Amino acid sequence: MAALLRVEELSVGFDTEDGFADVVDHVSFDLEAGETLGLVGESGCGKSVTALSIMGLLPKPAGRIHGGDILFKDESLPRIPPDRMRAIRGNRIAMIFQEPMTALNPVQRVGHQLAETFSLHEPGLSTETVTRRSLGLLEQVGIPAPEQRLLEYPHQLSGGMRQRVMIAMALASGPDILIADEPTTALDVTIQAQILELLRDLQRDTGMAIIFITHDLGVIAELCSRVVVMYAGRIAEQAPIGPLFTHPLHPYTRGLLASIPRLDDEPKTLLTTIPGSVPGIEELPSGCRFVNRCPFAVERCHGQAPVIDAPAPGRKVACHRWREVNAGDAEARST
Ligand SMILES: Nc1ncnc2c1ncn2[C@@H]1O[C@H](COP(=O)(O)OP(=O)(O)OP(=O)(O)O)[C@@H](O)[C@H]1O
Ligand SMILES: [Mg+2]
Repeated sequence: MAALLRVEELSVGFDTEDGFADVVDHVSFDLEAGETLGLVGESGCGKSVTALSIMGLLPKPAGRIHGGDILFKDESLPRIPPDRMRAIRGNRIAMIFQEPMTALNPVQRVGHQLAETFSLHEPGLSTETVTRRSLGLLEQVGIPAPEQRLLEYPHQLSGGMRQRVMIAMALASGPDILIADEPTTALDVTIQAQILELLRDLQRDTGMAIIFITHDLGVIAELCSRVVVMYAGRIAEQAPIGPLFTHPLHPYTRGLLASIPRLDDEPKTLLTTIPGSVPGIEELPSGCRFVNRCPFAVERCHGQAPVIDAPAPGRKVACHRWREVNAGDAEARST
């Protein structure tokens, strides 16, 4: 069966004062109908740019897809006319953001904004139908006293409630795909857990696919069945959730896993972190982009980018060292 969404060798860059800067480099992954895929990596690795490329929302004119393709139900999203893309974006692929206020209008009541969303997707609905559906959606996303909420302005709601309203608006059209870009990062831990539970329930009840973007592998473990690990604009590793946690292949993934606090850690010990930081786009190394932080780096890692190997079904890894240790049949499996 063809994937619902197929990102193929996607390359995206920005025009900057210092010239064109490549920030997403040959990124490929598939999303199957109804699955939850995690996109994980440190700040600046290109997660949001990948999501905005799928949505056709790259900042124009600076941002540009200059290679690869994004296929939604076999249709090339970067190549379709803008009005058709708007229809897909509104109806079939929805996105929620870290800060709900970027999507909510501060001077309009919640009810009005929900009604606008409905009339965008289905013009001509009666006021009664819109109100009934709005109440239904607010209930579906777990908002208590929905009648009252419809009359309130976004600033009258807590951060968690605002995030629920944004999720309700994203669900209004019954999308096939929800892209959630760090939707819980700004929330405190209890509310974060509630929103994750809500997304899990919605995913189960509606059958929509979710791309969940985060820098936190702990959150990925709660929600996702497969994970794409990005580093400095490239894919480092891709795997089903179980094998990724029990048997990570890329040194960067191992570093991310080691950074997750554990209950059996000695109290007050420093968290293990990966030394250094993601290189900026103006200082990317010419070989493997993780080379300056990698404890296993060998000579070759400095000189050339690693190819992507596919060591098992559903798994990919881009690492010279992995290839060297697993030499032999890696050659035959590379993609
Ligand atoms: N409008 C822009 N102009 C120039 N460069 C940009 C622009 N937007 C993003 N970038 C650059 O693209 C790279 C990837 O950014 P992106 O926002 O996708 O990172 P991210 O993985 O989502 O990080 P975070 O976890 O902080 O949200 C960064 O180096 C960033 O500086
Ligand atoms: Mg981001």
